[in-house]
Amino acid sequence: MNTKILTISDVLANAKELELAGSIIRNGGLVAFPTETVYGLGGNALDSGASARIYSAKGRPQDNPLIVHICDISQLDDLCHDIPNEARRLAEVYWPGPLTMILPKRDIIPDATTAGLDTAGIRMPSHEIARALIKAAGVPIAAPSANLSGKPSTTSFEHVFRDMNGRIDAIIDGGTSDVGLESTVVEFDQGFARILRPGFITLEDIEAVLGKGKCLVASGVREHVADGEKVRSPGMKYRHYAPSAPVTAICGDSFDVFREMRRRTRGESNCAAIICDEYASRLTCKTISCGKSGDYVSMAHRLFDALRSLDCDDISFILAQCPNENGLGMAIANRLKRAAAFNVVTARHLFVLGLTGATGSGKSVAADLFTAQGARVIDCDQLYHKMLSDDKEMLNAVEKTFPCAFRNGMLDRKALGSIVFADKSMLDLLNTTVLPFVVKKIESIIDCCERSGEHTLVLDAPTLFESGADRLCDEIIAVTAPEEIRLSRICQRDGISREYAEMRVKGGKNDEYYNARCDKVFINAGNFDNFKAQIIKYMEKYLCGGK
Ligand code: TXA
Ligand code: MG
Repeated sequence: MNTKILTISDVLANAKELELAGSIIRNGGLVAFPTETVYGLGGNALDSGASARIYSAKGRPQDNPLIVHICDISQLDDLCHDIPNEARRLAEVYWPGPLTMILPKRDIIPDATTAGLDTAGIRMPSHEIARALIKAAGVPIAAPSANLSGKPSTTSFEHVFRDMNGRIDAIIDGGTSDVGLESTVVEFDQGFARILRPGFITLEDIEAVLGKGKCLVASGVREHVADGEKVRSPGMKYRHYAPSAPVTAICGDSFDVFREMRRRTRGESNCAAIICDEYASRLTCKTISCGKSGDYVSMAHRLFDALRSLDCDDISFILAQCPNENGLGMAIANRLKRAAAFNVVTARHLFVLGLTGATGSGKSVAADLFTAQGARVIDCDQLYHKMLSDDKEMLNAVEKTFPCAFRNGMLDRKALGSIVFADKSMLDLLNTTVLPFVVKKIESIIDCCERSGEHTLVLDAPTLFESGADRLCDEIIAVTAPEEIRLSRICQRDGISREYAEMRVKGGKNDEYYNARCDKVFINAGNFDNFKAQIIKYMEKYLCGGK
């Protein structure tokens, strides 16, 4: 099908184009048009053939009803009956505007438009082109959002063109949609309104008209509807707004969300984040900024464009900042949660600092300085050794891998030591056996600190990267020292020969390894006061959460 493009910037100057679009609809054809919320895919609401064509152009499930758009309040009583007083009061205040009301329908609206329901969603848009088009068509217009089913709604001509070119008769190019999210959908029930889909008209706005406590929120808006559970609006049960890569919605204070994203994207190259302007430039992955923190109007406006622009094959996962549920936040959170298939996490507040470094570099001196400043420091080596004596799960795994290191079901550490220190591949095998248990333990300690409201935790871990515990850290620092200094420290500390100390230093990681992986590297070259001053300066900035 050859899709006509009709550019309309002014309803008076472009009266001819509007008349043409109106006649296409009157004659059973389909025209995509701008509204203040999103673009709609319009057809004659009173013509079941037109409605059927809408379903097939979108690939929309047959049981998901269409919204009927009107341009004058006088049309309401022709289409619906038994209109509750609450609906009339809301119409008076919020129509024309982004509010759809579910009302008992008259027979004039065919079943094909309402998917067989005896109610219809009615909306009077405020967008001038939308209203002029309804007027020109001379019939109410059934219009779902003008996207392919399952994709984010369309908020610009370019989006519509990508999804609908060749599938419908015409597209009106009328610029971008102001609001960016679809209308609020409400139903009425014994004096109460119930939000089935949150939008620009908020719960607070509805209560301002109907009274406090008079607006409910349907289950499924804020949380996932269980498979098979009956929903009040068919649209609630479909996967929606989803780019091809999986999305995780992250709730919490903006700074916590930023840190959560930084942890999750560390070392990842094919991921993307949707985050407020303040932090977008501080992430190393691809980012789309969605307005200043707390500016929900901007976020609503940009969200679908962001989701669409990330719908490409080279992105493996998407993280999106999820607003709180107040005001317009409820609508944005709803769309994001659905894009994320309700994969929603709360950002951690606790700041976790990873502290690592080669043997002999003086890392434990830094750990002591952190402890002295009141930070909780977990000595991961010590934790591991304790687990070797009392963590049954880990011991079972070690026994399965190294049965010779056990006598009568008890671990013989010397026997284990002689196996793994004689053969590097055995040491690697031991590490792959035990490190996952240690990391799990660290995760549970982090959870515990988070729940008890602590703000900083330091993980002192020589094998931070090998274990994967680096992924739990907000920031990672290393302590290094010149080789000569390390050698003499090791000889002194462990009472071993220089040759043996050299072997250990050679077997460990070099400075480049830490420089490439850590956020900051401190050199502990022997001048303790200097080293201490550097650490204290760093701590002042980071121990209060790293802002
Ligand atoms: O802002 C909007 O509402 C846009 C523009 C084009 O007006 N339209 C739109 O339509 O978003 P659509 O089809 O994408 O979403 C309509 C939603 C669906 O979730 C549908 O299930 C619900 O409204 N709906 C429509 N009629 C209904 C009814 N009779 N009962 C319950 N839910 C209904
Ligand atoms: Mg839609």
